[in-house]
Amino acid sequence: IQMACNFVTNQIDNRYTNKLILAPMVRMGTLPFRLLCLEYGSDIVFTEEIVDHKLIKCKRIINPVLNTIDFVDHTGCVVLRTCAVERDKVVLQIGTSCKERAVKIAELVTNDVSGIDVNMGCPKDFSVKGGMGIALLNRPDRITEIMTALVKACQIPVTCKIRILSTLDKTLELLKLIESTGVSAVSIHGRTSSQRRTEPNQNDILRAICNAHIVNIPLIANGMSTDVACHEDISKLNRSIGSNSIMLARAAQRNPSIFRKSGMLSGFIMAQRYLMYAIDYDNTYGNTLYCICNIMHSLMDKDIGSKITSSRSMLELSNALQLTEYYEQAITKRKSIYSSLTGEDRN
Ligand code: FNR
Repeated sequence: IQMACNFVTNQIDNRYTNKLILAPMVRMGTLPFRLLCLEYGSDIVFTEEIVDHKLIKCKRIINPVLNTIDFVDHTGCVVLRTCAVERDKVVLQIGTSCKERAVKIAELVTNDVSGIDVNMGCPKDFSVKGGMGIALLNRPDRITEIMTALVKACQIPVTCKIRILSTLDKTLELLKLIESTGVSAVSIHGRTSSQRRTEPNQNDILRAICNAHIVNIPLIANGMSTDVACHEDISKLNRSIGSNSIMLARAAQRNPSIFRKSGMLSGFIMAQRYLMYAIDYDNTYGNTLYCICNIMHSLMDKDIGSKITSSRSMLELSNALQLTEYYEQAITKRKSIYSSLTGEDRN
């Protein structure tokens, strides 16, 4: 009987164990980048944070030309685009301070994503003023309300992403409270609300949290990108911290092939592959340029960098990255799908 009990109490949700996770990143974490990270070995990819007010007003539209599901606002702007390739691996991160809005969003996206995450780590003014992000860390009542309501309403796993608090005990207490709401996992950024990303991550605190074994849900360690130079560093950190999974933001932004077991590829190859996804999924030029500049960061002072920054369209970006033919073929194919579906020509 004792053994059986141990087995039950020690069982841990395996959807978030031993996983390499792409962290939520505003602007970076749109569909092309998520697909790129999945292609190079990430197991789970988080969307950028989307604020509940914005998503709640969107309509869910099936896009038959791109084969995507789009959440589109009244101006026609695509707030979230996803597709079948990532269906079982993508987690939508929301910014919220209100259980009703959070639940409405869960209902809107429940068939299209594999999980919902609440951001409790954003220190930006607009988040804090709206009672979101790190503002939630001081409101255990609000955390309980939102997370309990989401868990109750959702068929898919619900998680949240927090920062460490000022002491280990306070952080452990918060984790116990979050666990009691029924969430499937928690990501922990090893910096306090007042610490910036330039300061060292408190890996020793993350280690103490994991070694306390105070909760029975997977703990996902985050904040270690400055300690990760190659793929092997990820598993070394996971072992040394004792976390169930690792979540990377800036290391993936620098080079998404950090997730690749067999070694990293050049920034140029990553940028080309990224652009292919951006073309295939009709990503906006502005977002594509932003992501390519980040992926190509160390090459931006070279000749190719000036070609990229002086581009003004997806075609010019494609020229800069030697993908003109790929771009032209993709556009021709898209036009032909569009005409076969509507009987009209699209220019
Ligand atoms: C972030 N971060 C972040 N966190 C979050 O919960 N939601 C978000 O939308 C964003 N956006 C974002 C954009 C960019 C460009 C960066 C660099 C970071 C924080 C991020 O997920 C992570 O917690 C920190 O960057 C620490 O992890 P790394 O970078 O050391 O792996």
